[in-house]
Amino acid sequence: MMTGTGPIADQRPHIVVVGSSNMDLVVKTARIPTLGETILGGDFLMVPGGKGANQAVAAAKLGAHVHFVARLGDDLFGRQSLANFEREGVDATHVTLSSGVASGVALITVDAQGNNVIVVAPGANSALSADDVERAADDIRAAGAVVAQLEVPLETVQHAAQLAHESGVPFILDPAPAQDLPAELLDMVSVLTPNETEARILTGVEVHDEPSARAAARKLLAAGVDAVVVTMGGQGFLLAEANSMEFIAALAVQAIDATAAGDAFAGGLAVGLAQGQSLREAATFAGRAAALSVMKMGAQPSMPTREEVETFAG
Ligand code: RIB
Repeated sequence: MMTGTGPIADQRPHIVVVGSSNMDLVVKTARIPTLGETILGGDFLMVPGGKGANQAVAAAKLGAHVHFVARLGDDLFGRQSLANFEREGVDATHVTLSSGVASGVALITVDAQGNNVIVVAPGANSALSADDVERAADDIRAAGAVVAQLEVPLETVQHAAQLAHESGVPFILDPAPAQDLPAELLDMVSVLTPNETEARILTGVEVHDEPSARAAARKLLAAGVDAVVVTMGGQGFLLAEANSMEFIAALAVQAIDATAAGDAFAGGLAVGLAQGQSLREAATFAGRAAALSVMKMGAQPSMPTREEVETFAG
């Protein structure tokens, strides 16, 4: 199934990302507050985020031609996000401004170890429809890989999966935020990329080490996905296909902010697969992109360039 090659004039790998765009409102704190507690934090940061937009920017910075399919509010945050796509080289032909609805917003707290908690107000992301995806059908059919996440309606993701599947284009699903997924969708997924929490929600297996990641991956493979990459932050990631499983240790880095590390990984994976790399090669490339991303604050500002990934000594 992972055979897609993107026939595109400029020869860059061609990726289509279907998903969310948020404005991230971030506060750095010494620790994550407990329920009902008020704590004083550090500096406030407002940066473009959203899992879909982060993955689109990640793939563009890694050298891909990226079409992003998304909805923004026709408001200040929406216009700032559009301007940012232009700066980052993301093709926003399929990005629509919805009037009368706010752009997606994420409230993020990041502790001293770089861990985070995130709450998203989806706003216009909830209006991204199967029809919006259909308008991008030609680009999806011509792509080297298609990527989606779950901050937009499930039927929208399913339509993207269907178009990719019918054309033999690898479909990567980052199941975040996790929710129960229908069998028909799992059947069309080329690579599923849950983190430990998402793997637990999808399988019921408490994932905390390699053996438990293997157990969760076996369940997901049995449910119909072609391959699973369980991402486990500072530990590394498990690659699982029908006949092989391999755990790859994470590169040791000083974590400043883990926000969007999974998005750097998904974007890097898509670029590698669209270039014709094996799953192992693409995941290794993606792991380097993710490691670099945790060394900087913020979602999109932390996405590394291709040159940074290739010269990374970690
Ligand atoms: O994956 C990180 C992203 O999750 C943030 O940028 C935030 O917007 C939420 O969507």
